[in-house]
Order: sequence, then C-alpha cells, then structure tokens
Amino acid sequence: METTTNLTNQARERIAAAATEDELRAIEREYLDKGGIVAGLLAAVPSLPGPERPAAGRAANQLKLEIQAALASSRERLAQAALAALRSSAGFDATLPAVRAERGSLHPITQLTRELTDLFHAMGFLVLDGPEVETDLHNFEALNIPKDHPARDMQDTFRCDPEGKLVLRTHTSAVQVRAMRRLKPPFRAIVPGKVFRQETTDASHEHTFHQMEGLVIDKHISVAHLISTMKVLLRGVFGREIEVRLRPGYFPFVEPGFELDARCPFCKAGCSVCKQSTWIELLPCGMVHPNVLRASGIDPEVWGGFAFGLGLSRLVMLRFQIDDVRRLLAGDLRFLEQFS
Ligand code: DAH
Repeated sequence: METTTNLTNQARERIAAAATEDELRAIEREYLDKGGIVAGLLAAVPSLPGPERPAAGRAANQLKLEIQAALASSRERLAQAALAALRSSAGFDATLPAVRAERGSLHPITQLTRELTDLFHAMGFLVLDGPEVETDLHNFEALNIPKDHPARDMQDTFRCDPEGKLVLRTHTSAVQVRAMRRLKPPFRAIVPGKVFRQETTDASHEHTFHQMEGLVIDKHISVAHLISTMKVLLRGVFGREIEVRLRPGYFPFVEPGFELDARCPFCKAGCSVCKQSTWIELLPCGMVHPNVLRASGIDPEVWGGFAFGLGLSRLVMLRFQIDDVRRLLAGDLRFLEQFS
C-alpha cells in the first residue's frame, strides 16, 4: 500500500511538471503499458498472502485511474496553453475561415456490396472474385454457351485479342466456373464485381457496371431454396418482407431459368419506378444446368444447385433512387458526396 501511495504521488508530480505531449507519452508508457509499473503491481498480487490480495489489487487499479486522470488534465493544460500562445501570436485572426476538413465516404456500390456480403456471409456463403479479363472458356464455353450459340448475341462482348480467346467478362457468371473447378461441393458463394458490355450508353445502359453472382451447389437443392434466399436478400436491402414472383426466363447455364420480380418497394398501386405495374424485374436466376456442372467436373447425378445474377448497379439505383446509371462511375464528387 505504501508503494502505491508513493508511486501515485511521484507520478502526479511528474505529470504536472511535464511540458510536452512527448513527455506525457513517455510517462504514460512507463506506468500503463503492457509490462509497465501498474501491470507489474497487478502481476505481483497473486504472490501476496490471500487476505491482502483484494486490497492490493484495488490499490493498483486506483493508481492506474489516478494516473489516467492526471494525464487527461495535463493534456488539457497543454492544449489550453498552446491555444493561448496562438491567440497572442502576431497575425492570428480568429475570424479567418478554417481549413475545411475533407471527409471521404464509401461509394454507394461499395456500401451495398458490404451490406450484401455481410448478409450472405451470415448464411454461410463464401465471397469470391475473379479476373476482369476472362477466357472465352470461363465466360461462355463452360457455361453452356458454345461458339455459334445465339445466346452470345445477348451480350455484346469486348474482345481483347484478335482470336477472341480473351474477353472483358460480360457477367460475373464466369466466376461460377472458376468456383466449381476450385471448390469441392457442397459450397455456397457470391461474387460481387465489375462486368463489361459493348453497349450504346444511356440512362439505363453503361459499358461498365456491377453484378453479384450467387451460386449454391449441394444435394437436394430446389427452387424453394432459391426463392427463400432471394427473400432474405430483399429483406436485408429494403428492411422488410417483400413479395416475389418467378417468370420463365432463358439463360443457357440454368434449367429451368427464371426472371425473379419483386413487389415494388416504393408504391402500392403503381409508380414510375415499377412503370405502373407494381412489380420490378429484379434478377435472373435458375437451377444450374447439368451441362455446366459436367463441364466443371461435378456429377449432375449427385449434385445440383441454383444460381442468380443480381444487377448490383441496378439495385443500388433502386435503393438510393438514382435515375441514371452513368452517374455511378462518373467520379463526380458532387454526386458522390451525397452518400457520406
Ligand atoms: N449472367 C447473366 C447476365 O449477365 C445473368 C444470370 C442469369 C446469372 C441467370 C445467373 C443466372 O446466375 O442463373 O445476363
């Protein structure tokens, strides 16, 4: 007890006499750091006779609190002194505008990607990525889109070489193939990322945009799993239960394939977002085609699954009520600052 009283007095005196923040730091380290004086006292407590331990422990903790309080008040004293010095210095003008503190913010696409990543992570999904320059094999061939298949025309492709072996990926579905070849089933994964299409741009078309692929490979997977997963997704994004419906849709890599619509989150009877229909076309999806499983070495007699291709850019636009997709990647700070 005597030791801690002495230590407290010593520390207080030193702290009160310190003239700079550096000195305070040094004292703080000496007393409070791991391996410092307080830690040493606490470590010695167990070696004391039983009845003395509680009081000794309390005294050591008290020392810590006293030092912390003394440090705080000394820091305040230094700050006040610095301010006073500044005020009395020549040329000081308290009416000049302050230097504006620039504050960055996350891009709305990053914000939503992080939210969705958390949501799917909680459901056991891995988060994968893949290259933006893809092989024709991953982007088309192994997804059941052979060379002369008319479905290639659904996506206007940027080609990277004269032979067309490399492309800018037109969809995140390319990473499905990489995932299936790399991972052992069962697995679940999402793939948020940038995709590219040779597109005439307008308010709803951009040559570069974001998608988030989803892929679940397991035994006994049905359309019910797909629907319930999509409902969890919508609840996460819009904060409440949202009705969905499936319409048939054609994509070579799923069978059956669907277009999933969500009840318009913004109206009851029709609005401009849902084009007066009360439904919003939200994402294409389906049950993974056996040819796709086979092309990646997975036995379709044993394994099955579902996949979906969420238009991330579109969902960001819905969520934040953005009217033109081209704003997303234009890098205009006046636009971006609204999302801080
Ligand atoms: N990759 C398709 C596209 O970009 C979207 C898509 C449709 C992805 C169906 C899927 C799916 O996973 O099952 O147009």
